[in-house]
Amino acid sequence: MTTNTQTNTKTMDEAFFEEYTSHDAILKYTKATAGYGISHLLDHDYKDAYLRALESLPAEVKQRGIRILEFGCGGGMNLVHLVSILTRSGIKIEKAVGTDFSPVLIEAAKLESKNYLRPDELGKIQFHIAKNESLVADLSAATGAPRAQLLGSFDFIIGVNTMRYCHRGGRELSCAQDILDLLSPGGICVNIDMNDRFPLFRSAVKNKFRAHKIEECYIPSLAEYAAPFKRTGFEILREEHFCWVSHSAGKGLCLVLRTLSPILSVLFKTRAMRSLVVARKPAAGR
Ligand SMILES: C[S@@+](CC[C@H](N)C(=O)[O-])C[C@H]1O[C@@H](n2cnc3c(N)ncnc32)[C@H](O)[C@@H]1O
Repeated sequence: MTTNTQTNTKTMDEAFFEEYTSHDAILKYTKATAGYGISHLLDHDYKDAYLRALESLPAEVKQRGIRILEFGCGGGMNLVHLVSILTRSGIKIEKAVGTDFSPVLIEAAKLESKNYLRPDELGKIQFHIAKNESLVADLSAATGAPRAQLLGSFDFIIGVNTMRYCHRGGRELSCAQDILDLLSPGGICVNIDMNDRFPLFRSAVKNKFRAHKIEECYIPSLAEYAAPFKRTGFEILREEHFCWVSHSAGKGLCLVLRTLSPILSVLFKTRAMRSLVVARKPAAGR
């Protein structure tokens, strides 16, 4: 990497870090202020993807209680909602950990869990500052648990709208490797992120409607999202586009998009809003 690229990368890293430590970020990534669309997705499309992936976990894991990690968890909306859904439908959780590199979002996530979870659920959830590309080392530093103790200590790992930042910085392989190391044999990772083929996610298209042009984060293709998981030895269970409701959709738009979703999925599946990769760590001895 040339010095110039390093400087550019550093400046972009700093810009993203600033964006995700702002007050706006707290509003955007916590449930009360995030918008109707995200609540809908947490209750439907994302929930369905998580529940279907959870079915593939080994039976003994479900009996013992699932150990969940969300990386790049922002203000904790996904994880808090998932914990609530699972415990209220009788699925056992042993622990749930959320990580993010933004200290303000981790504080917001702690508050989010206090606002939305019952005391018995709250006792199972924790949030720590950790970077996606150094999850094992950062979790070890944050919790005081030795590295060896962390390896294989999660069964279900999710990442929502955060993996693209690893791709932008060329750190997707480190992230996938740490996820593999943290998962138990047969453990599952669900990765949901923006689809580069959805026209309105393209900077050039968005910038046509903006007075001030903005350089958006690089959006990988579906194959690019799946690649680091394949290269680090995961088995890919699902690799597809899905979901037609935007996070920011209001009630009316959400209803329209939801009604049209089945037709849009048949006609234009590769143009849906999100890319979904579900990857499984091979079971021991395979
Ligand atoms: C678009 S937000 C999504 C937040 C959350 N997953 C959600 O769906 O509400 C992206 C998140 O990724 C986090 N992030 C970006 N780069 C990261 C990195 N290298 N390590 C850890 N977190 C990162 C940001 O702080 C932010 O919370």
